[in-house]
Amino acid sequence: MIKKECLEIVREKCENCHDCILGNTRNNVVFSDGNPETARVVLIGEAPGETEDETGTPFVGRAGKLLNDFLAEAGISRQDDLYIINTVKCRPPENRVPTEVEKSLCEKYMTAQIDIMNPKAIIFCGATSLKSFWDDKKVQISKVRGKWFDVTINGKTYPAMAIFHPSYLLRNHSMDEGSPRRLMQQDLAEIKSKFLSDTEKSVKNVQFGSLTMV
Ligand code: URA
Repeated sequence: MIKKECLEIVREKCENCHDCILGNTRNNVVFSDGNPETARVVLIGEAPGETEDETGTPFVGRAGKLLNDFLAEAGISRQDDLYIINTVKCRPPENRVPTEVEKSLCEKYMTAQIDIMNPKAIIFCGATSLKSFWDDKKVQISKVRGKWFDVTINGKTYPAMAIFHPSYLLRNHSMDEGSPRRLMQQDLAEIKSKFLSDTEKSVKNVQFGSLTMV
């Protein structure tokens, strides 16, 4: 079975899920965005907001638009390079942070998505997503962002990095050296060069005599 078909089975389970109270107030389950067959990196955000709940797509509101700008600037294709998900699939009322209970009841869907995707790397976008996999719940994203570490999910270990959440960048406009926006640029450049560079991609475009392996 191809990834897309496996993921559709998980999506269907999410769409019928009422394991936590978020299932009572959602308009749409926000399952994922990106092409699972081409994406090599999974990006995990916090939770759907209002626009995401209306559309069923993650990161399409103000924060999502800013994330798109940073990705485009780094030469990362949101549609082809990334598979974007959240720690919970339904919008918490008033955009509050999802509770530990909500996150833990939803975790099975997120870990199934990661298992199926088997990505080259995982990006934790913001503190909520990082803390879902980090033992010290007091961890500060500003201290650990930009550094690679290993994360083990369902017995498989992946390289991982935390980056700032775009909502934080919406409140921090400075482009000075060392500012959150500049650090976001650096982190995305590192992710691009390590896992999404042209040399990685060119493996698919090797020429053997008159044959091109696309
Ligand atoms: N913030 C998130 O963390 N995820 C979304 O999908 C939208 C905003």
